[in-house]
Amino acid sequence: MPVADPSALAFLQNRRSRPAKTLGLPVPDAEALRPLLTAAARTPDHGKLEPWRFIVIDRAAMARLAEVAEQRGAALGLGPEDTAKGRGQFDQGNLAVAVIEVQKPSPKIPPLEQTYSAGAVCLALLNAALAAGWGANWLSGWPSHDRGFMEKGFALAPHERIAGIIHIGTETAAPPERPRPDIDEITTWL
Ligand SMILES: Cc1cc2nc3c(=O)[nH]c(=O)nc-3n(C[C@H](O)[C@H](O)[C@H](O)COP(=O)(O)O)c2cc1C
Repeated sequence: MPVADPSALAFLQNRRSRPAKTLGLPVPDAEALRPLLTAAARTPDHGKLEPWRFIVIDRAAMARLAEVAEQRGAALGLGPEDTAKGRGQFDQGNLAVAVIEVQKPSPKIPPLEQTYSAGAVCLALLNAALAAGWGANWLSGWPSHDRGFMEKGFALAPHERIAGIIHIGTETAAPPERPRPDIDEITTWL
């Protein structure tokens, strides 16, 4: 018989992100963040390529990234509303971890599998933060897909990109439950 871990299963069945704009202080310090990163790095990784790394964004870096988003919005010809939306998460955020996908050349592991693994790291970090009692939220937004932002904001190399930005902080308001998929609708057995 399998040995169950009911509390771990209950956590996974009930986990819920906390919208980034509702996250307040305090945020995890380096010591509190380390076990969360350790949990996130324990993610399935075909071929043990480690096709990801972390960039921790503190409050001072948030302010700088908001300015980079502003500059990129202007360079891309975006309107004030879109530009404000792009910089919003950096204006409001106190701490986040950017999960960086780092493509590794491999004759065996397709690039797409490395992308999947980076996405899995994002969820693992989100879940670790929630399990530790923090509020957390996985955000993207146009800057996270903009090469100029990635280069100016994070000095990423061409084989790197932002997989996700995981904001972590203290929950100030519990969000209402979000409708969840009907398992029978999305599941077939062969
Ligand atoms: C790749 C990715 C990017 C996302 N980007 C955003 C975003 O920019 N803004 C946002 O409000 N939600 C974004 N979300 C949605 C939230 O992170 C989250 O999925 C939603 O709030 C429900 O979370 P829960 O299922 O953990 O409760 C994104 C989700 C994913 C997977």
